[in-house]
Amino acid sequence: MVLKTSSSGSFVGASIDANLHVSPSVPLLVVHKSDSLEGESALLGAKNATLVIMLSLILTKGRSVLRNVPANDDVIHMIKLLERIGATVVFDTNEHVLEVDTTNLDGHTVELEIMKKTRASVLAMGPLLARFGKANVAFPGGDVIGARPIDYHLRNFEKMGIEIHEVGEVISAQANDIVSRNLLLEYPSVGATENLMMFATRISGTTKIINAALEPEVLDLIAVLRKMGARIETAVPATITITGVDELKPVDHTVIFDRLEAGALLVAGAITGGYVHLPQAPAHAMGMFLMKLQEMGHTILIHPSGKGVKIKGAKNPRAVTIKTAPYPGFPTDLQAYTMAALTLAQGTSKIHETVYENRLIHARQLVAMGAQIEIPHYDTAIIRGVEELYGTHVIASDIRASCALVLAGLAAVGTTTIAGVHHWKRGYQGLEEKLRQLGANITLQE
Ligand code: UD1
Repeated sequence: MVLKTSSSGSFVGASIDANLHVSPSVPLLVVHKSDSLEGESALLGAKNATLVIMLSLILTKGRSVLRNVPANDDVIHMIKLLERIGATVVFDTNEHVLEVDTTNLDGHTVELEIMKKTRASVLAMGPLLARFGKANVAFPGGDVIGARPIDYHLRNFEKMGIEIHEVGEVISAQANDIVSRNLLLEYPSVGATENLMMFATRISGTTKIINAALEPEVLDLIAVLRKMGARIETAVPATITITGVDELKPVDHTVIFDRLEAGALLVAGAITGGYVHLPQAPAHAMGMFLMKLQEMGHTILIHPSGKGVKIKGAKNPRAVTIKTAPYPGFPTDLQAYTMAALTLAQGTSKIHETVYENRLIHARQLVAMGAQIEIPHYDTAIIRGVEELYGTHVIASDIRASCALVLAGLAAVGTTTIAGVHHWKRGYQGLEEKLRQLGANITLQE
């Protein structure tokens, strides 16, 4: 790659990874209680859209340009994946422009080491099968938020005629007698939808993915594939129809703005009772989240174009009930941030996490900061609002949890130190600097 450039809460019943340790020598995010955050902030492209779009370039031969690309660690790992299979990559991290030349791709294997660094690598399977007729990938495995199987991917590839052999952690897939099929997903999995759709763009015949995920990031991938020349239609109810074509051409594409980075900055405004303006925020893709912030009593102003959101944080926010669900439901990726905000809301809030089986894990760390949270059942959190949170040492367990703890730290009395910084760096580029510019007292100590 060329690079240009003090506890008082209660906690009941959650299954927590007991192996999370505190070590004084690890990198830390240090957050001091901050005054109301105020000002305007710019956004970067969505990580989850960027990663899959980078892999979709395997379907093409030639030089593509992606713009608005965040230089977070997941993107850097994905660049390594592309380079290992023969792509030439130039990344201008100041301009956020990524150039990928896929003319001379010569490999169809994603090594275990890369797979373990970013789970999204499994999405190479569809494009590699389409380009080379074969793919070797590794099982991405579970992580702290859940088991994260890929059975919907594999089962449906098999339905399309792909032969799959599993040896230990390695999956070897071979395209022999390919058939286009109607594929019914048991659950609208984002990854399965993306993987199968990318493969289907290059096989003969018409493939339907029914009960498909239609997250904004999936729609951005569809936009890219169409620019490449793919024939893809979406229809109600949640059906994607793909008619295969012989060839796809390189693209120039600007990745959609990150609704999750936007969510973080909006909660930063909310939790500090501040005022934050995000002119690029994709309000149309954040409906349920914005509705819940409003229900909490925060003032939300949406630009009539659907792009741009302002928040004025309420002084006495109210408790709300949240249930995560596939888009357009409340995004699981915004659940942890929202839990942080609800720890200080008046009354009793309830969060029902339906997407992942262990994604309330950050509750324990918030409790260490003085939050009152009970987990009566593995998927349900009951949050009783407290007057204050208190800074202490906490540990981030995943990307969104790292941000939730930063947000809680902005409102907590004293100093919060957060370990597990690698999660933060996987998901965000320069978010600490953006928060600082809005008035947050935060440093990243590496
Ligand atoms: C993507 C996002 C992630 C987000 C999630 C849900 C990326 C890189 N990541 O992850 O940030 O939290 O969507 O919006 O885009 N499942 C199975 N079998 C499968 C596939 C999924 O049981 O074959 C289950 C998962 O374990 C999970 C649920 O379905 O409980 C949703 O997973 P999925 O939508 O596939 O998430 P990802 O694509 O992995």
